[in-house]
Amino acid sequence: MSKTIIISNRLPLQLEINNNSINTIPSVGGLATGMKSVHSGSDSIWIGWSGLTEEKLDPEKRNLVQKALKKHQCVGVPLTESEIDGFYYGFSNNTLWPLFHYFMEYTEFDKDNWETYQSVNQKFADVVIENLGENDTIWVHDYQLLLLPEMIRKKKPNVTIGFFLHIPFPSYEVFRTIPCREELLKGLLGADLIGFHTYDYERHFLSSAQRILGLEINFNNVLLENRIVKVDSFPMGIDYDKFHNAAKIHNEKEKKDKTEIQQKIDEHLVNGDRAKLILSIDRLDYTKGIANRLRAFEYFLDKYPQFKGKARLVMLAVPSRSNVPQYQLLKNEIDQLVGRINGKFSEVSWTPIWYFYRSMPFENLIDLYTSSEVALLTPIRDGMNLVAKEYIASRVDKKGVLILSEMTGASKEMSEALIINPNNFEEIADTLKFALEMPEEEQIKRNTALQKRLKRYNVEKWANDFMESLETKKNSAKKYSLK
Ligand code: ADP
Ligand code: G6P
Repeated sequence: MSKTIIISNRLPLQLEINNNSINTIPSVGGLATGMKSVHSGSDSIWIGWSGLTEEKLDPEKRNLVQKALKKHQCVGVPLTESEIDGFYYGFSNNTLWPLFHYFMEYTEFDKDNWETYQSVNQKFADVVIENLGENDTIWVHDYQLLLLPEMIRKKKPNVTIGFFLHIPFPSYEVFRTIPCREELLKGLLGADLIGFHTYDYERHFLSSAQRILGLEINFNNVLLENRIVKVDSFPMGIDYDKFHNAAKIHNEKEKKDKTEIQQKIDEHLVNGDRAKLILSIDRLDYTKGIANRLRAFEYFLDKYPQFKGKARLVMLAVPSRSNVPQYQLLKNEIDQLVGRINGKFSEVSWTPIWYFYRSMPFENLIDLYTSSEVALLTPIRDGMNLVAKEYIASRVDKKGVLILSEMTGASKEMSEALIINPNNFEEIADTLKFALEMPEEEQIKRNTALQKRLKRYNVEKWANDFMESLETKKNSAKKYSLK
C-alpha cells in the first residue's frame, strides 16, 4: 500500500530524557501545529529530528527513542551536536532564516556551516530512501531542507516529490546575495511541485529561477531539460474545528471553575472594572516585531493616557533557538523594555504588561485567545502567522478585534482585520484605540466573514489542495512521458 512521507527538520513531538525514561512534548511553530493535524488523520509517516543529539543516547535509550517515535508514526534522523550546530543553529537559522525574512544585516555566510547543511540534507535523503516504498509520495517541508528534493531525485528519478516553504521566499534582489544561490535553487527544483503561502513568494521564486539559473518559465511552470516543475501558492489554514470547539468547551467550563488567566484577571480589577486584554503570542523571534510592539504600546499609553488602568498587554513569548546570538540579544532587549514600561506606568492596582516567557499547554493558549478583547500581532516579516487565524477561530461569540501586520502572509486573506504597518507606531497607537472602542456589532460583522473563510479553507483543505495538485502534475507528466 502506498503512503505519504512527510519530512521536516522538527518532528511534531520533541523528546526529552528524564532519568531513564523518555518524555514527549509537543513542538511549537506553525509547521508542526499545521502538519500534525494532517498527519494524525492519514496513512503517513513523518521523518525528522527527535530533538535529542546522538551524544545523549546509549543503545538502550536509542531503543526507547525509536519506540516513542514509532508510536506516533515518526522516524528519527540521527544528528550529532556538531551537526545541529552547523546545520540547524548555523546555516538554517543564522543564514537562511534572516535572509529569507529580509534581515540581511543578521545574515552570516559560513563555509563550514554550509558544508554541514549539505551533509545533513544528505543524511535526511538517506533515511527517506530507506523508508521509501513503491508508489509512495514524498512531501518535504521548509527552509532547513532546501537541497533534499534534488538529493532524493538523484537516487529515485521517478518518485513524486512535493515541497512546501513555510516562510517567505525573498525578492530576487535579496536572494541573489547568498553565495550558494544556484545550489539552493537546483535543490528545490528536484521537486515536481513547489508550494508557497502567497502569490508574491511564488513570483519571487520564479524570478530567481529565471534570472539566476537562466531557466525558461511558462506561466507558473519551470521548464527543465527533461522535466517540468510546477510552482503555486497554497495559503496554509488551521484546524478550525479544533480551536473553535476547544474554545466552546473552555467557555462552558469557565462558568463553573475560573481558569488561571481568569483568576489573575479577577485579582487585578481596577476600581471593580476589568482592564481589557490586548494579546500578543509568538515564538521569541526578531521577525515577529516584539520589541516594536512594546515600543508602540508605550507610545499608545503616552498618546492616549485615558487607557491607563483600562487596557493591558498580555504578552506570551515562547523560547526559541536560544543558542543563536541574535535571539539572546532580543531576549535581553525585551526583558529591559518590559521592565522599563512597567516601571514607567504601573499603578498599585494596574500593571500595563503581563509578560510570560515560556511554552504553555494548549488549554492555556485557548484561555488566552478566549479572554482577550484584542490580538495585536505585528511581525516585521512572517510567512503566514497562524496565531492570527487561531485567535479568530477561538472567538465563539464572534467578538474580539484582530490587529495584524501587513507583512504577514495571513494579512492577504484577512482583510476584515485591522491591517497595520509594524514600523508605524502612530498607526498602531491609533488602531489600538479604534480596536478598544469598536462597537460589538462591527466586531461581529468582521469576525463572521473571517470565521467563514477560515472554516472553509482549513488545514485539511490546504493539504488536500496541495496533494491533488501534486497528483495532477504526476499524471500529466506520465501522459506526456515527461517527469
Ligand atoms: P511560527 O511558525 O513562526 O512560530 P505561527 O504563528 O505561524 O508562527 O505559528 C505558531 C504556532 O505555535 C501556532 O500554531 C501556535 O498555536 C503555536 N504556539 C504558540 N505559542 C505556543 C505555546 N506557548 N505552546 C504551544 N504552542 C504554541
Ligand atoms: C517556523 C518554521 C518551522 C520551525 C518553527 C519553530 O514555523 O517555519 O520550520 O519548525 O518555526 O522553529 P524551530 O527552530 O524551533 O523548529
